[in-house]
Amino acid sequence: MIKIAVLVSGSGSNLQALIDANLSGQIVGVISNKPDAYALERAKNAGIQTAAIEHKQYPTREAFDAVMHQQLLDWDVDLVILAGFMRILSAQFVQSWEGKMVNIHPSLLPNYKGMHTHKRVLNTGDVFHGCTVHYVTAELDAGQALAQGVVKVSNQDTETSLANRVHELEHIIYPQVVEWICTGALKHTSNGVIYRDHPMKAPVQFCKF
Ligand code: GAR
Repeated sequence: MIKIAVLVSGSGSNLQALIDANLSGQIVGVISNKPDAYALERAKNAGIQTAAIEHKQYPTREAFDAVMHQQLLDWDVDLVILAGFMRILSAQFVQSWEGKMVNIHPSLLPNYKGMHTHKRVLNTGDVFHGCTVHYVTAELDAGQALAQGVVKVSNQDTETSLANRVHELEHIIYPQVVEWICTGALKHTSNGVIYRDHPMKAPVQFCKF
C-alpha cells in the first residue's frame, strides 16, 4: 500500500477530503510549517501522526526543506501531497521528490500561477475558473497538469463565493487523482505520465456549472 504524507499550512479542508475518501493508500503523516494550522487538528482527529516544522526556525529554505525531507524518509513515504502548503520548495527538495509529489492550485493552470487567483480572475473578467492538480517541478505551478475542475464565473461572484465553489471542486478532484496514483491508474514514468495505459496528453476535466 502506498504511503502518503500531506504537507499543509492552513485550514486543511483538502486534507479532510483526502481523509474522508478512504484512499487505497495510507496517509501516514501530516507536516505543517505552521504549528497552529487547523489541518494538524484534523490529522490528530483522524489518528494520523503529525509534525509541526516551523520554517521560521531555520536560517534558509534549504535547511527547512532538509528537515522535512528527513521526516518524509523516516515515515518511509512514497507520495507527497501538497494541500494548501504555502511555501516555495527548494530545487533540491523538488528534485528528490520529482514524480512523487503533487500539488493542487486554485486556478486553471497555466493561467494565474502564484497567489490571489480568485481576485485576479474577477479583475480580468474571465468566464471560467477552477483548480488544477499537477506534478510539482522546480518551476512554480508549472508541472504537468493531471486534472482540472472548472467552474463558471457569474457576474454576481465575489472572491469568497468563487473561492468556495473552487474549493468544492478541489475536494472532488484531489482525492480522485490521488486514488488514481494509489491504484496505479496514473503513473509518472521516464517516458511521461501514463493514465490508464495511455500517455496523458491533457488533464482530465471535471466541470460543475
Ligand atoms: C486551496 O484552495 C489550495 O488550492 C490552495 O490553498 C487552499 C488550501 O485550502 N493552494 C495554493 O494556493 C497553493 N499555491 P485548505 O487548507 O482548506 O485545503
